[in-house]
Amino acid sequence: MTAASRQNTHPATISDLLDREQQRFRLTHPRSAAAWEQGKQHFLYGAPSHWMRRWAGGFPLYAARASGARLWCVDGFEYVDLCLGDTGAMAGHAAAAVTAAVSAQMARGATLMLPTEDAAWVGAELARRFGLPYWGFTTSASDANRAAIRIARLITGRDRVLVFNGCYHGSVEEAHVGLAGGRMVMRSGVHPNAVEHQRVSRVVEFNDLPALEAALQGRDVALVLAEPCMTNYGMIEAQPGFLEALRELTRRTGTLLLYDETHTWSAGPGGYTGRDHLDPDLFTIGKAIGGGLPVGLYGVSAEVAARLWEHAPRESLRPGVRQSSHLGFGGTLAGSALQVAAVRAVLSQVLTADNFARMIALADELGRRARSVVSACGLPWFIAQSGARVETLLTPQAPRDASQLARTRDGTIETLLHLYMLNRGVLITPFHSMLLMCPDTTAADIERYISVFAGLCRELTGR
Ligand SMILES: Cc1ncc(COP(=O)(O)O)c(C=O)c1O
Repeated sequence: MTAASRQNTHPATISDLLDREQQRFRLTHPRSAAAWEQGKQHFLYGAPSHWMRRWAGGFPLYAARASGARLWCVDGFEYVDLCLGDTGAMAGHAAAAVTAAVSAQMARGATLMLPTEDAAWVGAELARRFGLPYWGFTTSASDANRAAIRIARLITGRDRVLVFNGCYHGSVEEAHVGLAGGRMVMRSGVHPNAVEHQRVSRVVEFNDLPALEAALQGRDVALVLAEPCMTNYGMIEAQPGFLEALRELTRRTGTLLLYDETHTWSAGPGGYTGRDHLDPDLFTIGKAIGGGLPVGLYGVSAEVAARLWEHAPRESLRPGVRQSSHLGFGGTLAGSALQVAAVRAVLSQVLTADNFARMIALADELGRRARSVVSACGLPWFIAQSGARVETLLTPQAPRDASQLARTRDGTIETLLHLYMLNRGVLITPFHSMLLMCPDTTAADIERYISVFAGLCRELTGR
């Protein structure tokens, strides 16, 4: 419980509201409740993915269908979806162009161990948007990060990966670490999995240049794995000059720099990298780029590619001779015809520059109006924004790092915020309070969110 985030609220009201909302959720969602009871019989964590049990009502909604920025649950309610599959559906649910392209490719063959002609367009577009010339497919962003780490180790001959405290880069062993009292520790709930984190990982606070410099100066770090704006612990923007210094320090110490733009793609058609000309050595992305299909991508600079080809040549070894080449990354279904068709549809017709401009304008509007609600109610909360992504943080000003943000997190208020929304037809991601736009989000959806948010803030503060 954090007193600061509760300024001007009434503690008794918070727990009463939470009880009321939990009861309302249980009473109005009997079919979801029954499906959850059944799910627990055969799924380890009740649902096909353990993340799905984390919804604020105590059990997940079971979805009947979803389209654009709308979702319908099996109990018959309609929702404005601002969770969008925790970014996986930033292209909108069942986007028509993706559905058509994927259905057509499915009918022509989904996975062939052969490229299709869509690949040339996709490769050129990835290079144009994000600035890195060479690309490879995986089946998830986690896997793209693992591929990038392997490449970095291979070409630098170093083992260590540096991440920022509070990061999340998927199920990537090296990144499951955090800081506690200035020391590196495992993130809560994560088993070390026989990985020697003290040897292969290093972690510093975001925006802490002296710590970063000290961590890199021994020249034993292969790679800095970072988001250009941290998104998973709550949105934390880089302070002015931090990313420039990160680039300069990594170059000076022979360390490679990887930007993971799986979430920060919301900043615009080329993510932060394209928008701000960030020039990383490696780049990864996943989730929304597949339009709903499991896709991850890693991109590398010309220099990284040249160094990689010294170890693992690009051309076939000798025609006519049976070859075996386990590079240790990729996968049988990675780069499938289906994935490539989906990415082409997303990039050419759905997450286009025009649609990003519209999505960002809606996020600007949502952010502006949420700030005026918060200020009218005297709540010490900060509304963060990164392009098409807005977030309610229970802290009075923009956070500098995850430790600072951790001091103001308030699980009870966060749960109440999520559940209050859920009970009034608005979905937000269970793990953080991110509100994401897709090309189908409308001004009326923003209106709906704001009126529910204002209702909660008024109930909390009596203003
Ligand atoms: C920044 C970032 N990178 C990578 C991932 C991993 O994505 P996936 O679970 O699809 O592999 C996530 C997931 O939330 C993420 O937020």
